[in-house]
Amino acid sequence: MVLKYRRFSDLSTSEKILNTVFLLTIGLGYLMALINLYYTHQGRDGKPGLAIDDIVIMYHGSDTQSRLASAINGIMEPNLRYKTDKELILRWIQTGADEAGYQQQIAPILNRDCITCHNPAVNRDLPDLTSYSGVSEVTKSNGGASVPSLVRVSHIHLFGIAFILYFVGRIFLLCEINIYVKRIAVVIPFVAMLLDILSWFLTKTLAGFAYVVVLSGALMGLSMGMQILMSLYQMWFFKHNPD
Ligand code: HEC
Repeated sequence: MVLKYRRFSDLSTSEKILNTVFLLTIGLGYLMALINLYYTHQGRDGKPGLAIDDIVIMYHGSDTQSRLASAINGIMEPNLRYKTDKELILRWIQTGADEAGYQQQIAPILNRDCITCHNPAVNRDLPDLTSYSGVSEVTKSNGGASVPSLVRVSHIHLFGIAFILYFVGRIFLLCEINIYVKRIAVVIPFVAMLLDILSWFLTKTLAGFAYVVVLSGALMGLSMGMQILMSLYQMWFFKHNPD
């Protein structure tokens, strides 16, 4: 039988080595992405650890958690020099976030720990924490992710992840498995990624879609992980049977 398509058995050892270091690096990159996801989203709901509520607050917002409270419970917490200041700020938000309290207790903390970055002169895109009016913007109830910020993160994800999935998929195509399984398997991670990004926008309006965000994200990771493992296995351990 004449094989028209290349399979792992047609690769030189150098090509296999290149494919292997590429796949292992992508796998490591994916693990780092998961750890990063944990650090940036955990604690938004006021409780340590990552839970579905953290995802809901991120995209949909919260009536009880303001953006400032979510930030100092989660990603911005390490910027506070003293842990006790967190309780102070949370109590100030809960009791109405008034200007007198801001001047007496809150401004000194923010001026010391936050305004090196949260200052319109330094970064126009970050909440302005240099004045009471600026801080008030993030102590109101939290509206979730803004459409411009979702669009920004979406285009970065679509361009970046498409490249990763394309190259991982090209290597996976060299596997010797049922062609129908293969044709479906190369499409799944792309569909999962699109569904994931679409559900960020849907979660903004309908909080229940937070589950779709998590499930489609997990599906993308699992299907890409399967392609990587299958490719590594066939590249090095699978014995080709020429007929
Ligand atoms: C080293 C720079 C830096 C410092 C210091 C800093 N922040 Fe931030 N902050 C950022 C960046 C960057 C973002 C945007 C993060 C993102 O979009 O994921 C941000 C985002 C935020 C947000 C918005 C979160 C949201 O809902 O989008 C709040 C609120 C916030 N920080 C509060 C604080 C507070 C309070 C402090 C001081 C205790 C602080 N930050 C210190 C850089 C900083």
